[in-house]
Amino acid sequence: MIKWELLLMAIICWQRGHTDNHETKKRLGHVTVVVVGGTGDLARKYLWQGFFQLYADQVGKGHTFSFYGGGLSPTEKGTPLLFGILKELACPLELSAERCTLVKDQFLHLSKYHQLKTTEDYEKLSQQIKQQLEQEDMVEAGRLFYLSVPAFAYADIAEKINNTCRPPSDAWLRVVLEKPFGHDLYSAQALDKKLSGQLKENEMYRIDHYLGKQVVSKILPFRKENKKLLDPIWNKHHIQRIEIVLKETLDAKGRIQFYDQYGVIRDVLQNHLTEVMTLMLMNLPANLSNSMEILQNKLNFLASLQHVDNSNAVVGQYQAYNGEVQEELNKTKDYFSLTPTFAGVVINVNNAQYEGIPIFMTSGKALDERVSYARVLFKNDVFCIQDPNNVQCKSKQIIFYLGHGNLQYPAILVSKNLFKPELVSSGDWKEVTEYKDVNVLGLPLSDYYIQSPVTPREAYCELISHVFLGRKDSFISAEGLHASWAFWTPLLEGLSRVFPRVYPGGEANGNLLNFQLQGHQVAFSHEAVVNVINPSAEDNFQVMQGKYRSSEMVSAWAQELVERLASDLLLAAEEAISEEGQFHLALSGGSSPVALLHALALNLYTFPWRNTHIWQVDERCVPHTETGSNFRSIHDLLLQHIHIPYFNIHPMPVHLTQRLCVEEDGGPALYEKEINKHVNGSSFHYILLGVGQDGHTASLFQDTKLENDEERLVILTESPIKPHQRMSLTFTAINRARRVGVLIMGKSKHELVSQLSRIKGESSKYPITKVQPKTGTLIWYIDYDALLG
Ligand code: BG6
Repeated sequence: MIKWELLLMAIICWQRGHTDNHETKKRLGHVTVVVVGGTGDLARKYLWQGFFQLYADQVGKGHTFSFYGGGLSPTEKGTPLLFGILKELACPLELSAERCTLVKDQFLHLSKYHQLKTTEDYEKLSQQIKQQLEQEDMVEAGRLFYLSVPAFAYADIAEKINNTCRPPSDAWLRVVLEKPFGHDLYSAQALDKKLSGQLKENEMYRIDHYLGKQVVSKILPFRKENKKLLDPIWNKHHIQRIEIVLKETLDAKGRIQFYDQYGVIRDVLQNHLTEVMTLMLMNLPANLSNSMEILQNKLNFLASLQHVDNSNAVVGQYQAYNGEVQEELNKTKDYFSLTPTFAGVVINVNNAQYEGIPIFMTSGKALDERVSYARVLFKNDVFCIQDPNNVQCKSKQIIFYLGHGNLQYPAILVSKNLFKPELVSSGDWKEVTEYKDVNVLGLPLSDYYIQSPVTPREAYCELISHVFLGRKDSFISAEGLHASWAFWTPLLEGLSRVFPRVYPGGEANGNLLNFQLQGHQVAFSHEAVVNVINPSAEDNFQVMQGKYRSSEMVSAWAQELVERLASDLLLAAEEAISEEGQFHLALSGGSSPVALLHALALNLYTFPWRNTHIWQVDERCVPHTETGSNFRSIHDLLLQHIHIPYFNIHPMPVHLTQRLCVEEDGGPALYEKEINKHVNGSSFHYILLGVGQDGHTASLFQDTKLENDEERLVILTESPIKPHQRMSLTFTAINRARRVGVLIMGKSKHELVSQLSRIKGESSKYPITKVQPKTGTLIWYIDYDALLG
């Protein structure tokens, strides 16, 4: 007891000493910090250390503080938990051991656990703050709430804060929110709407801890300091590619509840890596302290990004993940999660400065090393005949190295053959001239000019001090957040049906996750060889062959199945071309062929498009420019990515004399004429079909009246679902084909696949059963989801 009093006296004297030293300093008022979720993991690992650092930085400078750790547990349970955490706090580097003991004791003395569950709990907290201010005759400066809780609790807590814990109007309120801020654009907007009913935008501090990383916060200052040298080369004429990378060795075990709903793109790419990319490529603001200008430039940059879809991304999942999901989410053994734990994306910018520079963004769990960096690789025009170690011949690059990996410390590296950069801020940053014997991205350290922070600071410490200082530009604005979600949401929707490639994890991944550019798109560079169906089974099969409804069947997981179908099509094309000089392929609409068209588009260098004719199996009676049009999706997914002669494309004529599918306009007859003109014996080389859950195929439904004239190749039909009017090839045309492939994918088709397997021969209920090529062959491509359910 005596010891404690002595200590307090010492503290008071020390504080007084400090204040006396600054006697002109006015009382700046009292700040209350409340960490909601104050005994949780994030608080334990980073937040309290950040607040301790804040306290150590600020003590004696005019503000007074109190700290509350809030939690759902009652006080008796929460208090020891909180103090267990606080006692372990490390000393800030700049404090001597003696001084640290003093400051830490003081910090502990000012900290308290408070149960925060009900509205009454929040009311009590507010009363306590008021009482303390009155008792100690203090002016209130502000209240800082840090919500370190799952995002679903934000709206409720924000409401409680708004209703019970607002400080008087001359003091500030700042509420810090951790990501995830929504799941996609719509949910982010919905969350914002809820929050903005309770808090003003200037009261919300959405944290992205990457913005607190020392290197990330120096990207703009570095660009500014070196503007003269960078301006001539920071463009498509000089930059070869950009890489933004966060590789992790850790897996998602223990946080699957959260992770499985989000996956790597939402967890890391949409926020951390997008922020880094934006800082690297946005227009440099004239004034780096003008947060409005920074925001506007960020928004302009995000608006200039080209739309990304499945063809711009590859995704993977580490092998043990699915088992972890089954365990942590209590799922049965046949449950499969499609959540990617690895993603590689190529992004293109649609503006004159950067157009055509591929930006590779990638991140993954369970990889071979932990490292994060953003690298700008410049073109090198020199062809070195001799002495590749000559400085002229080496890579020219600038690397914003965020940490870990070979280097182990954060730094900005510039290849010596590029230029000697200015030091970003001389007080806090230093030039490194001692070179460890390591390589960083292909060059030994001695080939770089290196600058690095004098004292390493944790990102959270940095950002907590920025909240305290009200530096909003270090946080995510509502507009910036929406712009980033608007960019990522379509890709996320597209990928929700894609099977990630399974990878073993760690070093064993080998080259399995390497991906490469193909035009503007990306694909894995190597075939998958890991067993995806049952990791413990001995046989390492991927594609299975068998019989289905007495015809040949190929089955595999979706991605492998589609790759197999694409390669079968290629064989059919080569065979037809060698025999007849041409390949006539008819494609269906609907969702089944989407993945196939994507795979075909990626094959752009090898498929003989020059001699291939593309026909339509069916079409909706809407203009071809509309998104609902089958031709439009064939165009978007395939035609625009390949070099195919214009004359080889044969869209169905659903739009004639400014009308859609009117019998008198004779659309079907016209198409038939065109088929007869080009296709030998009107017998297509390949017709690709899908099947609806009701058993329809092409646009031939259970109730479709088939013409008396058996020779008709094309007819108008009615669909039971919108848009009702359709044009379709007939069974006559289909059954004349040399090959017919029926592609069935997804769990939703499982019931149908089982039913069809029980029906022998034709059934009027299921039009697909009428597909029986006369002399050609029928092959079923059924993925494991549809086959096994
Ligand atoms: C977090 C993600 O935001 O960032 C984690 O939720 C990820 O999944 C982490 O591991 C990476 O941060 P850092 O600072 O370790 O690169």
